[in-house]
Amino acid sequence: MKCLLVFYSRTGTTKKITESISTEMNCEYEEIIDTKKRKGRIIGFLKSGFAATREKLTIIKEIQKDPKLYDAVILGTPIWNKRMTPAIRTYINENKNQFKSVGFFCTMGGKGAPETFESMTKLCEKTPVSTLAIAKKDIKNELHPDKIKNFSQQFKS
Ligand SMILES: Cc1cc2nc3c(=O)[nH]c(=O)nc-3n(C[C@H](O)[C@H](O)[C@H](O)COP(=O)(O)O)c2cc1C
Repeated sequence: MKCLLVFYSRTGTTKKITESISTEMNCEYEEIIDTKKRKGRIIGFLKSGFAATREKLTIIKEIQKDPKLYDAVILGTPIWNKRMTPAIRTYINENKNQFKSVGFFCTMGGKGAPETFESMTKLCEKTPVSTLAIAKKDIKNELHPDKIKNFSQQFKS
């Protein structure tokens, strides 16, 4: 399958995981840039969480890669208050008609993956080929390379 990884990352964890998946699958990726300021340990954190809980959309920078040219679009997001981020919600809203098939991955402290994947499935109107949830402890215990390998395997055909 020709796959495109599409991700948002506020503090770099999801970006690192995306890079590992990209190497494993030998596929391209696109980083979604949220034009809203989300940095900051307190204000940025609170505003981000509020926007995710309210299922807010945002304004994202123009994308560079055309999702309809890929067999699968694999969407990656950090979990915010057991939800996808506004940047990924916006990307899905704007592009879902172009998706042939989808996969989802997330990074998180440890909670909210099932809820997040369920709402991504609803929004995409497609059941994912596969999903991957990476918690902080997976990275600490170096469990993520095996998880990434298993996930990537599902998109080989
Ligand atoms: C506003 C906010 C809300 C969060 N809510 C959750 C949550 O509900 N469950 C969880 O496990 N982690 C939560 N986290 C932790 C992030 O999902 C985790 O640190 C993630 O790996 C960050 O990815 P990034 O470095 O790519 O931005 C939250 C982080 C932020 C900033």
